[in-house]
Amino acid sequence: MPVINSIAALHDEMAEWRHDIHAHPEIAFEEVRTAGIVADKLRSWGIEVHTGIAKTGVVGVLKGRSDNGRAIGLRADMDALPMTEQTGLPYQSTNPGRFHGCGHDGHTTMLLGAARYLAETRNFEGTVHFIFQPGEEGGGGGKIMVEEGLFDRFACDEVYALHNWPQLPVGTIGIKSGPAMAATDTFTAVIRGHGGHAAMPHMTVDPVVIGAQIVTAWQSLVSRTTDPVKSAVVSVTQFHAGSAFNVIPGQVDLCGTVRTFESAVRDRVRDGMIRIAEGIATGFGGRAEVDYIEGYPATVNPPEYADVAAAVAQSVVGVGKVERDLEPVMGGEDFSYMLNERPGAYVFVGQAGGPNACSVHNPHYDFNDEILPIGASLLASFAEHRLR
Ligand code: NI
Repeated sequence: MPVINSIAALHDEMAEWRHDIHAHPEIAFEEVRTAGIVADKLRSWGIEVHTGIAKTGVVGVLKGRSDNGRAIGLRADMDALPMTEQTGLPYQSTNPGRFHGCGHDGHTTMLLGAARYLAETRNFEGTVHFIFQPGEEGGGGGKIMVEEGLFDRFACDEVYALHNWPQLPVGTIGIKSGPAMAATDTFTAVIRGHGGHAAMPHMTVDPVVIGAQIVTAWQSLVSRTTDPVKSAVVSVTQFHAGSAFNVIPGQVDLCGTVRTFESAVRDRVRDGMIRIAEGIATGFGGRAEVDYIEGYPATVNPPEYADVAAAVAQSVVGVGKVERDLEPVMGGEDFSYMLNERPGAYVFVGQAGGPNACSVHNPHYDFNDEILPIGASLLASFAEHRLR
């Protein structure tokens, strides 16, 4: 593998760091031990360290051989999932109900590996910011870091991040131009009618009938108000009402999720859901209130920077090993908040093969140590290529 030689030499050491973090997983904003390890290692390599950003976030600042006024941010997520590991590995989680089931232990390790290499070589001009964020798996640690002035305190011209990807083979890197991951919104709705005897519907305003029409009508937002070549999902996942065979209830409670890639599509779906629910309910003599909660925005790679990332990736894994023709993913990612502030790219590092074919968020999943030097080389190469 044409990774950076001195990073390849760190492979065993990086695997040890990874197994230690894996054995001691911490969920959103509880990453105290993990953040402590990150800060200690960065300091030991002569990197300036800032802690306590978004509670447990850490930023390392490293200057190159000279200052050309440019800076980039490299970001890794540190948090684990609130689930139980079932791998039986020797370095299995020692924290009950906590599990690095998405490979963020590997992401943290790869960024540490890149930091150590760059601190030793400093073969770049300008500044690298190593951004270790808490709470990616819900909690929006990336958003909070941005709100706490991440880019005011640590100016970055560009930002890059990666995720291990079990759908791509080891030795490949996937980079999607444009929308890569979806905006993940949720909603609740309350439909109020007027309950009564089920045999005397004319004495009631039946919220079940109103709710059923709203659920059906919302689906037309995808088929009739969204551009057919664009994507939206509206899924009602809960519909709660009533307690008897012969009583029309007074209220229906709904909830669900909306997934989109473009803010204009997202806005139209949200506005349409509220308009349709209120209009239908009013038309039947009831009332509807929709509470639409915006989650992570879509993760969008500007085409120019997707090309930049692809060129850097090619220098690491070689020609023909960079997959550009990926389908976007309907899952969410809170690096989107950073990409909304600064240009850059979010890339997938292939990790499939051998025992590591399992998907993320599965209790049998494990990050593949084979790709530690690839990811660390990629992150270091972003600095060396973009800061010269
Ligand atoms: Ni993840």
